[in-house]
Amino acid sequence: MISKKDRLFNLSTKHTTYLFAITETGHLEHLYYGRHLSNPTLSIDALAEKRSLNIGTGTAYDNDHPTLFLTNLCLEYSTMGKGDYRESMVDVEYAKGMQTLDFIVKSFRILPGKPRTFSGLPESYGDKETCTTLEITLKEACLALRLVLTYTVFEDSDVITRRATFHNDSTAMVRIRNLASAQLDIDQDDWTLTTFDGAWARERTMTEHVLQPGILINDSKCGVSSADHNPCIFLTNKEGECIGMNLIYSANHREVVETTTFGKVRLLTGINPSGFSWDLSPQDRFQSPEAVLTFSASGMNGASLHFHHFINNHIIRGAWKLRERPILINNWEATYFNFNEDKLLELAQESAKLGIELFVLDDGWFGVRNDDTTSLGDWTVNPKKLPSGLGGLSLEVHRLGMLFGLWVEPEMVSLESQLYKKHPDWMIAIPGRRPSVGRNQYLLDLTRHEVREYLFKSLSETWHLADVNYIKWDMNRVFSDLYSINSELHHHGEFLHRYVMGLYELLSKLTQAFPNVLFESCASGGNRFDLGMLCYMPQTWTSDNTDALDRLYIQEGTSCGYPLSAMGCHVSASPNHQTLRKTDLEARFNVASFGVLGYELDITKLNRQQKEAIRSQIAFYKAHRALLQYGQFSRIKLANSASNQVIWAVTSEDKSELLVLFAQKLNPANPGSDKLRIQSVDLDAVYEVFPRQQKIDIKMFGDLLNRISPVAITEGGIAQDTISKAVSLDSEVEHYRVSGEQVAFSGIKLNQQFGGTGYDAMTRVLGDFGSRIYLFKKIN
Ligand code: GLA
Repeated sequence: MISKKDRLFNLSTKHTTYLFAITETGHLEHLYYGRHLSNPTLSIDALAEKRSLNIGTGTAYDNDHPTLFLTNLCLEYSTMGKGDYRESMVDVEYAKGMQTLDFIVKSFRILPGKPRTFSGLPESYGDKETCTTLEITLKEACLALRLVLTYTVFEDSDVITRRATFHNDSTAMVRIRNLASAQLDIDQDDWTLTTFDGAWARERTMTEHVLQPGILINDSKCGVSSADHNPCIFLTNKEGECIGMNLIYSANHREVVETTTFGKVRLLTGINPSGFSWDLSPQDRFQSPEAVLTFSASGMNGASLHFHHFINNHIIRGAWKLRERPILINNWEATYFNFNEDKLLELAQESAKLGIELFVLDDGWFGVRNDDTTSLGDWTVNPKKLPSGLGGLSLEVHRLGMLFGLWVEPEMVSLESQLYKKHPDWMIAIPGRRPSVGRNQYLLDLTRHEVREYLFKSLSETWHLADVNYIKWDMNRVFSDLYSINSELHHHGEFLHRYVMGLYELLSKLTQAFPNVLFESCASGGNRFDLGMLCYMPQTWTSDNTDALDRLYIQEGTSCGYPLSAMGCHVSASPNHQTLRKTDLEARFNVASFGVLGYELDITKLNRQQKEAIRSQIAFYKAHRALLQYGQFSRIKLANSASNQVIWAVTSEDKSELLVLFAQKLNPANPGSDKLRIQSVDLDAVYEVFPRQQKIDIKMFGDLLNRISPVAITEGGIAQDTISKAVSLDSEVEHYRVSGEQVAFSGIKLNQQFGGTGYDAMTRVLGDFGSRIYLFKKIN
């Protein structure tokens, strides 16, 4: 709901209210973002900044307003040169580099729904029932320049999106140095900032920053949204309040959190101005990506739920929206480049027997690619590896009753490729300078129309031929040596934005041409996990690291901003290929099941016990898939804390069913009791609670087996191996009938864990990195 009464704009969702007012000078003063207010007009005076006195060394707006100091006002937007000395939202150069700007409210309109943008940027969507849009036009006090602020209120998700559009109505070119998407100025109510930082194979680990006077910057400068610092950020405080912010953009972003000495905090998000500039011709306009804001009175878990709902309903689109995603097998960690048709079919056949639904052929099927030094750009099949072609393989896979998926990395070129021989100037490099390199490969200049045309044509031909149901779109290096011969570029500061716009155009054409294909975006794992990519591709490969312990951190961090339905999570081999850590097959599944499940190991080499375990994992996942992909997720005990335990829960909307993950980092000796205390239950209900039955590998007990075995068993010996292949133990018997109140107010004390003093059918044997999934089912 959006309304305007006198000077006050009120943007309200089901549970939140966002207020700002037009000042006597025609600026916009931000007044409030928080819990829903039922009568906001009453409070306008109480919420506004008091300014009857001068500020020493301050710059007053003008002579008529000697106590109006923009630098100590919460504003909806900001510019340079008029006395606001914080980081500004808008920075534009005109007339020999002048930067002073002053935008004054001219008009506004409220529109039902959300009009489509002109710019080609990916954006959220919604109809008249779910959202309303406010457009405020501001005019520069002395120049023919306009700034339009757009707000869309998504009532059902408790989300407000924002963007800015800059119009050059003058007769001269202006240079945009910065146009942030959103600015939020709030009081410093003891906020803590959470960012999601990392690198390859350790993406989106939560970092907390205490706010002190000064500037904190969360950004990316490598050309993609990056695993280094995800664009999603949160502020939380001791009242349990949380503000979340994200950006629908996949290139360089910047979030500024500036804490002033006047006790205010400014948040900005948008395209990173570092290295960016955009020359705006007369009568032209430039639009920022869309920023996404939410507020929750239930902390970060509450804010995450808003983001999850928003992404599932207003970002993800097309045939796979809100649809259960298939369980896949991916051959990458099973074979790497070393495969042939027989090997792939063997893998597919075994997968089909276990209940896997989608076979994904990863890297190495095209050109002459037998390692990562060649062939990127040549999207035609290698007949030596696949004599029946992609069509033949896909036919066999389809015959097995599975979907067929294919890996591609279209934005790249290898020096050793037909494409490079034919079009060396399509590669991003500066003439006369040796280009830097990543994973032996180079980027293609997607700012250029002919490059995009080639990719559209060669990819669509291959995908038709292969009758694909799924595409994994990879991107394994970031940018360097920015240069383009594209004549549309006025300035190389435009390059990265033009590149990503080119990518978006290509993705939009391909997703329209293949409307039923499920796309999964990937960038060496999660180097481009963002809302921009999710507008085209409903899921993202979360991380190349599938270690059961590390994934607790990675998935937990990712879940703060993104729903489980968007997170690709695979069970891979042990020892893990990234960490060499040995973890239990069941523990790997337990963690991977909180997301879109896949397997990425050579299952043909597994023994009978392991295959049986996988068969029942898959059956379990299918039975609870809707909950595991679309349930309401909450983080109860964080991996990223001193706690040895990690607890997550997914709850169905009507709270009739919950799945709870209990995981531990290390196995404690002589442990205390473990407890499940979950708030997201129906307090009036009665639940049956029991753990998913899983297999316990007898190898876990090492030579302790000799305490019960009539024959001597050597740890790591043939006897132990043989028994382990044939026999495994069932996990503990445990069952409760409890009230919702008991679960929420007291918690369930679980069976004792193995602690070195004995073992019986009730003992919970978890081991290091071990876990259980508990099923809560409402019975009344
Ligand atoms: C990247 C991806 C992997 C795999 C390889 C193939 O690293 O993240 O999942 O597809 O490329 O080269």
